[in-house]
Amino acid sequence: MNLKLLFFCLILAALLIPAELKKEKPKHRHRHNDRRRHGHGHGRDHDRELRGPGRHKQHRKKETYSEIINDFFFAILDGAGDDDDDEDQSDSEWLFDLQEQNGRCDPNPCLNNGECEEKGRKNFKCDCPKPFRGRKCERTRNRCKRGRCGRGECVVTSNPPFYECKCKEPFQPPHCRHFSLCEPNPCRNGGQCVKDGDDFDCECPEGFRGRFCHVGPEDCFDDDGESYRGNVSETDDGHECLYWNSHFILENGADPFNSFEDSDGLGPHNFCRNPDGDGMPWCFYRKGRKLLWDYCDVEECPEPTDETPTEIVPSDFAPTVPEAEPTAPEPTAPEPPVPEPTAPEPPAPEPTVPKPIEPKPTVPKPIEPKPTAAEPITVEPTTAEPTAPSEPIATTVMPSATTPQQFATCGHAQPKKSTKRIYGGLKTPPGAVPWQVSVNVRPKNSKLPFSHTCGGALIESCWVLTAGHCIDPTRDMQVSMGGLTLNTDESTEQTIGVEQAIRHENYRETPSAVYNDIALLKLKGTDGVCANETQFVKTVCLPDAQLPDGMECKISGWGATENSSYGSSHLLDANVLLINQEKCSEPKIYGKILDISMFCAGHLQGGVDSCQGDSGGPLTCQSNHTSVIYGVVSWGDQCGRKNKPGVYTRVTQFLNWIRSKTQAPSA
Ligand code: ARG
Repeated sequence: MNLKLLFFCLILAALLIPAELKKEKPKHRHRHNDRRRHGHGHGRDHDRELRGPGRHKQHRKKETYSEIINDFFFAILDGAGDDDDDEDQSDSEWLFDLQEQNGRCDPNPCLNNGECEEKGRKNFKCDCPKPFRGRKCERTRNRCKRGRCGRGECVVTSNPPFYECKCKEPFQPPHCRHFSLCEPNPCRNGGQCVKDGDDFDCECPEGFRGRFCHVGPEDCFDDDGESYRGNVSETDDGHECLYWNSHFILENGADPFNSFEDSDGLGPHNFCRNPDGDGMPWCFYRKGRKLLWDYCDVEECPEPTDETPTEIVPSDFAPTVPEAEPTAPEPTAPEPPVPEPTAPEPPAPEPTVPKPIEPKPTVPKPIEPKPTAAEPITVEPTTAEPTAPSEPIATTVMPSATTPQQFATCGHAQPKKSTKRIYGGLKTPPGAVPWQVSVNVRPKNSKLPFSHTCGGALIESCWVLTAGHCIDPTRDMQVSMGGLTLNTDESTEQTIGVEQAIRHENYRETPSAVYNDIALLKLKGTDGVCANETQFVKTVCLPDAQLPDGMECKISGWGATENSSYGSSHLLDANVLLINQEKCSEPKIYGKILDISMFCAGHLQGGVDSCQGDSGGPLTCQSNHTSVIYGVVSWGDQCGRKNKPGVYTRVTQFLNWIRSKTQAPSA
């Protein structure tokens, strides 16, 4: 970590962030009102000004055609996509080796119903069912090689040939290489297709809308849209939604089908849905090579209404079978194998709408300048951390004497909405990370508004665990918890002042690393009650043992993402793997700078990572069906880079320190 660069970034960020976060705020808070006022609710003011209701369709349609033609993503590549092309040996393959039992077939090491065959004394071979492959059938063949679907989207199916092309109109199935205007008629519900140069326009019968007249008059959502099963497939800003089974989504590390486990409504279609407890239906879309999401151009049902929305499937719209059927004709046969492109791809254009999927930018930190090691800080004098804790700390927190029901257990997220997330910074549903804290600061004794600087984790009603480098004695601090969106008053949110910030006595920064990067915030309260336990505010447990390398754990925060260097206004979470210490100390990773106060977690191939602004936030792992805070976001060499995973404070090294502070008689 280059501290000079870091400080430069900090200053830049301090200037940029507040303005940027302000820009985001109204969209979340006022989007429902906006929709009512403006009919189709195109979320951004500048867009509304540019497109009046009548002109909008025309403008958007033309743009779509030229976008398709000019989109390098859809470049027609002769012979792209070879079924038997091998993917790169996965960089995380070593993790499988680390987790090896005894090299034999019991327990079956083959995933995805692979059959295990013993080979000699110690080895095995997995016979993988199609389309799985890899030593343990952990990978799938990439049937959606670039160019396979011409000017169309490749979606993954479970039957041969395991993919399908969803063509961008007017390109035609099966492989979206030829185009034909208005034949067959792409307009639904009796819409008339009118040719317009190279493009077409659907003239919709009364009450129908959408590019293909596929959105019916009763297509609307109630409440938060969880039950919405309508046909809108465009975002607020007119981006066409990706199919939920799009290869592009999977390739970017998100897996809607596994991520939103309990939800129905997802399927091999591209209709907007709300499977994750958000405020309204949304969908993924693609911009350049970036996977983004946004809320949809879907209308709220008129109030009052007693009717629950039902499946809205216009008569001549393809999915006549509920959401299990693809909407485009099956490809008859896979394209002949063709070589992968060799020419370098042009850089993806920067999206203007930051709805990031993977947190991994390299840009400014939305955090306040930190004191250097040389600066004096007001820390409480205490004893040094013993090298090993003499006894494990209990994983439950003592309930407060005055409120016996409060925080009686720790580490249990809100069960109803805690959908399992896989990879890449998806939005956190309410109550899924109820111990997540936003640490806010402002200049000492000022009346300026507080702003987010770091994450933290609630470990007791009056105690927040955070990173040492988040403590800045020149600033006043407060914490907020229970909310998901920064700078928004949420009814679920609790904001509490910080009585005392205690940074670890052996905290140390060097130009390349931060050591013993841990701190405790004692919150203001009465009779040992500070935060109140609710569905959205709970404590996380402290760990009591080392956890195995390769284990999948969760990180969360409002930090910088690939597409928004100033941070995400919505809490994001992602899954990372615990990385073996020796592995992470290899010269090509972090070499000798790591010590036992820290560990690495992430994906060595790059991508999913924590980043600036996530610091102090929790890395939690499941231990005995309970979430324990195993790490605190600390540092990393930029974000999301190959072989530069995130580095986290090793909480198990500080159990006695934590106990000595939180249980001190004066505490
Ligand atoms: N130091 C950063 C912060 O203050 C956290 C950086 C984490 N970096 C990473 N690549 N995981 O927010």
